[in-house]
Amino acid sequence: LLRTRPRKHGYHFQPIEPSTKDDLVLPRGYKYDVIASYGDVINKKGDTFGFNNDFTLYFPIYDSANHGLLWVNHEYTNPLYVEGEKVNDTYTSSQIEKLLYNQGGSIIEVIYDKRKGSWNMIQDSVMARRITGLTPFALTGPAKGSRSVNGASMVQGTFANCSGGRTLWNTVLSCEENYETTSADAKLDAAHYGWVIEVDPFDPEFQVRKHTALGRFNHENASMGIAKDGRVVVYMGDDKKDACVYKFVSAGKYKESLGNKNSKLLEEGTLYAADLKNGKWLPLTLDAVQNAAKGKSNVLKKFQTQGDVVANCHEAAILLGATPTDRPEDVEISPLDQTVFIAHTNNDKHGNIHGHITRFFEKDSDHGAAEFDFEIFAAGGRQSGFSAPDNLTFDSNANLWTVTDISSDKLNTAVWTSFKNNGMFMIPTAGRDKGVAFQFASAPVQAELTGPCFTPDERTLFLSVQHPGEETKDKLHPTSTWPQVRGGNRPRPSVVAITGFNF
Ligand code: FEO
Ligand code: CA
Ligand code: CA
Ligand code: CA
Repeated sequence: LLRTRPRKHGYHFQPIEPSTKDDLVLPRGYKYDVIASYGDVINKKGDTFGFNNDFTLYFPIYDSANHGLLWVNHEYTNPLYVEGEKVNDTYTSSQIEKLLYNQGGSIIEVIYDKRKGSWNMIQDSVMARRITGLTPFALTGPAKGSRSVNGASMVQGTFANCSGGRTLWNTVLSCEENYETTSADAKLDAAHYGWVIEVDPFDPEFQVRKHTALGRFNHENASMGIAKDGRVVVYMGDDKKDACVYKFVSAGKYKESLGNKNSKLLEEGTLYAADLKNGKWLPLTLDAVQNAAKGKSNVLKKFQTQGDVVANCHEAAILLGATPTDRPEDVEISPLDQTVFIAHTNNDKHGNIHGHITRFFEKDSDHGAAEFDFEIFAAGGRQSGFSAPDNLTFDSNANLWTVTDISSDKLNTAVWTSFKNNGMFMIPTAGRDKGVAFQFASAPVQAELTGPCFTPDERTLFLSVQHPGEETKDKLHPTSTWPQVRGGNRPRPSVVAITGFNF
């Protein structure tokens, strides 16, 4: 069903039709440049770009919308292309090293060449670097050094980095999501993963860290806002079936002049889980949890310190009466009215096959509020034209952009047939087209589009094309050959820059 152009001011594109084409399909007048693919050299030292790029975040250099650092998450690897298959159900140490090196994040330097009209990565950059599953991290907050992390205050590496967010002080938060698989494969202590990490792309001296006060769960992303009284607030989703929506509110207040020293704010505060039945944020304090566990000695044993609470968030949240929801993925704050949008991708346990996007209204529009109301802003399905909303981003006109994540084995089958490949959609949140989804992009075969991020002038959109050809069993016959640059016919996860936006 081809819709008319969106009427709201901002982007005027002719929406595309769903497609099964093995390409990143865009509306007329738009084009993409592949700027970094798996295995590309990213700096003078010879470090290489990791696998399965996800979240991207653009950091202007000298306020430029044409030259900056781009943070990119690398979520997981595929043994077919990275570490090779296990032998006797185990990996060798060199396989483990590959598996860990190609997850985590990349900081790459990107520039727009006005003469050529294209974006490129500067491959001999001195600012570009890697953060991987081998990089030492410091723990902060209540679980640091506690029994819940087996006494650790430094841990090895980050991985399973799905989405993330920008702090008010211009560092990146990146979220460890499905950490169980990699930690088991690499024989690492699972208690050290499932956290939100912080990196300063411009400052290699900034100790990379994991903020345990923000809780341990299957973190999708972290979206930062500020309470009316100046405390910092971080909204987060736990991407599991029947899991909760969280927010962290710092104890201290944000001071712009402190720059990245504001990071301390993420070490102390209150973590809340959402109770949708009563519109209440439930504080996950040790007292509250112990009170709720009264008479259950097994549970009480588990929750002895605040470190235990943050390390076992889901159990604590459910115990307190927080609402299990349908796989809460990305959470983003509207620039228009500060309402909070949450993508619930799907949950087949309850017949929520195509997912929906929820909108939270904090009491008095205050991110620090203890109460909220909510609505279902948009629902996936044939009528809306999208299924499985995942990452979200806003443009400055409060158009919500969502990418979809129908799993590769379900694409183009059964009730997912009409959607064809995964895509990207623009949904106005105000005006006559409020809630209507306009398709902007269609992904290559078996790929997922992730991590959309606009430059500050909104003339470029960075986008990750993750896992093209994911169902490939035989390398000689890949199910996708995208992007067919530099790497021949092998599918390669890549980050692209999309241009053509005008106002
Ligand atoms: Fe890694 Fe929830 O997607
Ligand atoms: Ca995701
Ligand atoms: Ca997903
Ligand atoms: Ca994914």
